[in-house]
Amino acid sequence: MKVPQHIGIIMDGNGRWANKRGLPRMMGHKAGVEALRRTLIACSDLGVKYLTIYVFSTENWGRPKTEVVALMALMELVRNEITELKKNNVKLTAIGDLDKLPAKSRKAIQQTMDATADSTGINLIMTINYGGRSEIVHAAKELARKAIENPELLESLDEKEFASHLYTAPYPDPELIIRTGGDFRISNFLLWQIAYSEIFVSETLWPDFAKPDLEAAIKDFSKRDRRFGKVKTAK
Ligand code: IPE
Ligand code: IPE
Ligand code: MG
Repeated sequence: MKVPQHIGIIMDGNGRWANKRGLPRMMGHKAGVEALRRTLIACSDLGVKYLTIYVFSTENWGRPKTEVVALMALMELVRNEITELKKNNVKLTAIGDLDKLPAKSRKAIQQTMDATADSTGINLIMTINYGGRSEIVHAAKELARKAIENPELLESLDEKEFASHLYTAPYPDPELIIRTGGDFRISNFLLWQIAYSEIFVSETLWPDFAKPDLEAAIKDFSKRDRRFGKVKTAK
């Protein structure tokens, strides 16, 4: 099985999982945290180097206030995972417009990032208040600011330089994107970075996601013929 070095996951279906059980949506999000724990360990065991997860989109602010508040509170609990993350040699990083988060959540995330900064195992990249479009606008603004100081930048600007201003600059592009919950859409996740990613949609709702689902996605990925716009080389 060819294992991607970078997997992105759109963890969708928490609300439906809870609805099916007659539970409040928040219980689905809580169960989603367990699925994340399992998936992180499974990815680490398989030798995945980067796992980027969609935690909260720029559009998710439009949900009922009670759900937004509860999700922000759930993020604060990341601090309780520090020992476990360190034990598993996980380096946690959060990307997105984090300034808009409540101070308590931001602080807990920052503490966890600092505490795991020296880990050398899998990188867990949480995208929070993240939107692919807003990330691209953010990069364009930074570049525009630099171009005012140094107009030559406009002449030399290429894809590599542009990508170095994205939040994901330190990471290779994901080879595989998994979306759970059965919907065939990207919902503003990593727009630039997925130009040539393979996409796998799993019918499994995120709280039910487990190692066999991950393996099914990777197995499917292994069979894909990735041509990158070229023609298949003759065997
Ligand atoms: C994904 O699950 C988690 C977040 C967006 C935070 P949803 O809450 O979107 O679950 P569904 O899609 O309503 O089932
Ligand atoms: C995508 O799921 C965002 C996250 C998983 C954080 P959504 O539930 O927000 O996306 P849509 O509404 O189905 O496009
Ligand atoms: Mg959803």
